[in-house]
Amino acid sequence: MGELLNRLRRNTMCGELRESNVEQKYTVMGWVQRKRNLGGLIFIDLRDRTGVLQVVFGEEINKEAFEIADTIKSEYCIAITGTLYKRESPNKNIPTGMVELKGESVKILSESETPPIYIKENLDAAENIRLKYRYLDLRRPDMQRNFIIRHKTAKIVRDFLDENGFLEMETPMLTKSTPEGARDYLVPSRNYPGKFYALPQSPQLFKQLLMVSGFDRYFQIVKCFRDEDLRANRQPEFTQIDMEMSFVEEDDVIELNEKLIKRIFKEILDVDVQIPIERMPYSIAMEKYGTDKPDLRFGMEIVNITEEVKECDFKVFRGAIENGGSVRAIKVENCADMGRKKIDKLSDFVKNYKAKGLAWIAYRENEIKSPIAKFLKEEEINNIINKMEAKKGDLILIVADKNSVVLQSLGALRVHMAKELELLKDNKEFKFVWVTEFPLLSYNEEEKRYQAEHHPFTMPMDEDIKYLETEPGKVRAKAYDIVLNGEELGGGSIRIHDSKLQEKMFKVLGFSQESAWERFGFLLEAFKFGPPPHGGLAYGLDRLIMFLSGTDNIKDVITFPKNQNAFCALTEAPNVVDEEQIKELGIRTK
Ligand code: AMO
Ligand code: AMP
Repeated sequence: MGELLNRLRRNTMCGELRESNVEQKYTVMGWVQRKRNLGGLIFIDLRDRTGVLQVVFGEEINKEAFEIADTIKSEYCIAITGTLYKRESPNKNIPTGMVELKGESVKILSESETPPIYIKENLDAAENIRLKYRYLDLRRPDMQRNFIIRHKTAKIVRDFLDENGFLEMETPMLTKSTPEGARDYLVPSRNYPGKFYALPQSPQLFKQLLMVSGFDRYFQIVKCFRDEDLRANRQPEFTQIDMEMSFVEEDDVIELNEKLIKRIFKEILDVDVQIPIERMPYSIAMEKYGTDKPDLRFGMEIVNITEEVKECDFKVFRGAIENGGSVRAIKVENCADMGRKKIDKLSDFVKNYKAKGLAWIAYRENEIKSPIAKFLKEEEINNIINKMEAKKGDLILIVADKNSVVLQSLGALRVHMAKELELLKDNKEFKFVWVTEFPLLSYNEEEKRYQAEHHPFTMPMDEDIKYLETEPGKVRAKAYDIVLNGEELGGGSIRIHDSKLQEKMFKVLGFSQESAWERFGFLLEAFKFGPPPHGGLAYGLDRLIMFLSGTDNIKDVITFPKNQNAFCALTEAPNVVDEEQIKELGIRTK
């Protein structure tokens, strides 16, 4: 090394030094976490990616170094050479706490202004400041840990898939609209004024083409772009672990991915994931949990009590049933004494999901309390209690409406109650479930047509193909989602590789021959040339890393994320560009 480092050469990282290293000379480089001046002694906690090391400077140790150390402030970038000693008063809280370096020389590599955020763990600072000064936010040890986990996970994925015959291959970023169903990010073309590339929402069609090419097993850790409203756990650009396999059925994809999941959780967290992972048909997930991503860490399953109340005098219940809906309930244990105000709040909560109200039965020690008791016979109340297997002390929460509203609102209420009651506090479980047998199509009420639930290339289940043209809503797909603790971690399907079936599918979706060819012609053309049976899956890598690093904020695992309004506070993108640039692209802005 030249002038800059004054021939200094780092020969250890801060976090690596232990008692076994004492009485040796080391040069460390990093940032000043903290400085304390105790008169004759100056203590500096030096931080690098691996941890913190205490360094002590004293006039007795080295006078010149001591004087320089005196001028040093927080977040200065410095190099220190010294000898390692056993500490007189060890700090059991850090791995290097048994030792300290006696500073014999120090060089200031660069100074730092007082940073606008604290560089410390579990920082509680406004998010916009953290994002604006993201490079400082990323100096914080908990953030660095998240990205080390991210790196390790990506490496495990690569190693595992390589061992299993997958090739890592890239696909274009400047491409044509893909069929994932979100809004595209568009890139105007200079060569073709008025025309646009779309950034890929996923590599879906390209990975299928790679199967047609005979690459057999493909994977890619890849950026995907979706212009959608940023609910929790979503970013406009995010990363997928994307894979596709030839000559496979659902079980092959699922079994391989169970091994991958097991490997990741063992190596990163030393957690043993039991495989095979439970599989749950979509219909059961909806029926019991009111969602296609059930959280199985707690009970409170939804129970259908339509039978029990179908003859009752309560107009709301009768009305819902007569209109083809249902009456369902969840049982909240040991909450029969919940106050009126709290219950009213729960009622407001389900109204967010279009429920019109929330009926309840409190099965108390000496009485049964319920606002609907006046409409129901004692026998009917008892039947509900029996059906719910309620014990004294339990609270039953009931919604009557059309099925979709009942299930959605109770599904959300179930999760809400688990949070309210802190059922998951200190819960370290990882409850995986494959949700399978998704409906192939869903009916779009506004457009009065069926649309693909996953995408139009998803294979129907063999036994349901016969309903494709007569009862499309009944057809289930060879599609599967991997769900972890109530969160969709990934999803995939077996694809259609038979052009006749694909044509049928487009017909059901209301695509004319021309519009199907206009959008996906290149894939349909490719499928004329001996496409292999194939299927695959993609994980949201960011979401996976969230679980592995124990954060509930997706921004904590993305180096330079956008804020909730898809804005980058650091670079201030999106932003205006030169008039010249716009002209060249042949577009006009308002
Ligand atoms: P899908 O659309 O389900 O499937 O996406 C796969 C996974 O990507 C994650 N994900 C996101 N993560 C963060 N921000 C977002 N905006 C976002 N959107 C999706 C989720 C999701 O499970 N081509 C198919 C896969 C296949 O069929 O092989 C696909 O993209 O964790
Ligand atoms: P009311 O007679 O309108 O006061 O209703 C009696 C109880 O039924 C109240 O607790 C309401 O919240 C509840 N309720 C009203 N509509 C519904 C509904 N669709 N499903 C379940 N409970 C309801």
